[in-house]
Amino acid sequence: MPKHGSESFFVLGEGLLAETRGGRARTLGAAAEAQVAPFRFSRMGPKGADRQLSEANLKRLGNAMVGPDGPAARVPAGFTYLGQFIDHDLTFDQTDKMLGENVSPARLLQGRSPSLDLDSLYGAGPSDPASAIFYESDGIHLKMGKTVRIGGDRAMEGFDLPRGAGSSAAARRAAIIPDPRNDENLAVAQTHLALIRFHNRVVDSLPGSVPDGQRFARARRLVTKHYQWMIKTDYLPRICAPGVVNDVFTNGRKAFEVGAAPNAMPTMPIEFSVAAFRLGHSMIRSAYNWNARFDNGAGTLDLLFEFAALNGTLGGSQRLPSNWIADFRRLYDFSEANKPNLTVPEAKFNRAMRIDTSLANPLKDLPGFPQNEANLAFRNLVRARMVKLATGQQMTRFLKSKGVQLTALTHAQLRDGRSGADLGALTQQQRAAVLKNTPLWFYLLREAEFNAGRLKGVGARIVAETFHRAMEGSQASIVRDPSWRPEFGPNRNTFRMVDLLLFAFEGKKKLLAPLG
Ligand code: HEM
Repeated sequence: MPKHGSESFFVLGEGLLAETRGGRARTLGAAAEAQVAPFRFSRMGPKGADRQLSEANLKRLGNAMVGPDGPAARVPAGFTYLGQFIDHDLTFDQTDKMLGENVSPARLLQGRSPSLDLDSLYGAGPSDPASAIFYESDGIHLKMGKTVRIGGDRAMEGFDLPRGAGSSAAARRAAIIPDPRNDENLAVAQTHLALIRFHNRVVDSLPGSVPDGQRFARARRLVTKHYQWMIKTDYLPRICAPGVVNDVFTNGRKAFEVGAAPNAMPTMPIEFSVAAFRLGHSMIRSAYNWNARFDNGAGTLDLLFEFAALNGTLGGSQRLPSNWIADFRRLYDFSEANKPNLTVPEAKFNRAMRIDTSLANPLKDLPGFPQNEANLAFRNLVRARMVKLATGQQMTRFLKSKGVQLTALTHAQLRDGRSGADLGALTQQQRAAVLKNTPLWFYLLREAEFNAGRLKGVGARIVAETFHRAMEGSQASIVRDPSWRPEFGPNRNTFRMVDLLLFAFEGKKKLLAPLG
């Protein structure tokens, strides 16, 4: 089963917090590795040293959190996998794309710091020998791949990730992209492809007067800033209380790396990585109306994994079979951009599951893990225990002490939730333990339950501040360049995911939904 999380957390000032040394692989020669820590995690709030629940309690709680699909949300399902793509961008360790020689410590640090620079798309850029393979021979456009014909669905250029390098069947199947985690399931893979197309279209839109030597850098800056704008104005307000996002982006941070030099290297708070941003797990559906061929729930989560190459086999093929090409009209709502001709009936549309304390059934049994460790909810909870993460109550107190205004959940709210996980199967003692020292992830998902499936309070603060800092510390940054405005949307203030897709796919139905 795909693993897109770390197994070890190098927390600045604390060292390696984990039971295993696993985690992200060492990517450089020993000498270069020694110069810099692994990916830079930090702790935003206090330690929850004596507040951790026993594994037995976490097991009960984890079981209570996974079950039949609960209520869906209004959020289009594409945003689930956009979230996964963003997570990979934030946590991408770029150092294996650096050659290990003559790499300055600053560059090493940057490669292992969270940023929203799209290095998961660009690697270290076309002039870096280890990354040149991702680019066309002009060194400016990114490569795309061709699907393989199946039945009446012909092979189509530009609808799969590039593949085909290497000698073994598995190596030829692997996507030629900087971050292989973006080929972990078909939904995130097609999201990556949309970003490749977006970059290529931006390159083509540059005026001819831009000299060859500057075209790539110019395009990358434009792409990155549009992407950040879309995250800030479209993605974040869908998953987080918009008031909190606005407050943080207007008035600055109160709790995380306050006063850091804007372009100093950011770190990734474990409260975000081990708890808050795992919110995406509750958005996953067990099945999708994927496209005209795999309709009415036939696009199951299992098949989305099979039709990617990190752990799947593309159905035994070397490239994506054409009948699996995404129908983006079913994943994003183009009526937001006044394109009624690019919409599908509600019954065909996919909405994400509500962000809440319940996860879809298949996540109870992740293949590839020992049976008693295969429940994703349990894994998240136990990971938090491992790093002694602060509890929901501790983070509430901590954030309040930093001047953040928020209302703590009441005992009854935490216990009963609103159509989320039912704690009825826990013994009274177990329930009391959970309600006293509530694991942060559970706490912030409960908060979302009382906010129609959007993070608020503690969860919203952690997510908004972490994103703000990651954008601030990125090489191209809309936070450090507040007068910047998008140019590829309908007006100078608007650039949403639907605008990105419209630009990338030329606004054409035959590209956004080639199977009809
Ligand atoms: C398609 C479905 C997905 C599956 C099967 C999946 C599975 C996993 C697994 C197995 C882990 C490691 C758990 C552990 O042992 O600690 C993990 C970590 C994580 N996941 Fe997911 N995930 C999915 C989608 C998402 C989405 C949509 C988001 C966010 C929007 C997300 C955010 C995270 C984060 C933030 C981590 C920790 C990352 C890190 O350690 O750096 N995941 N996921």
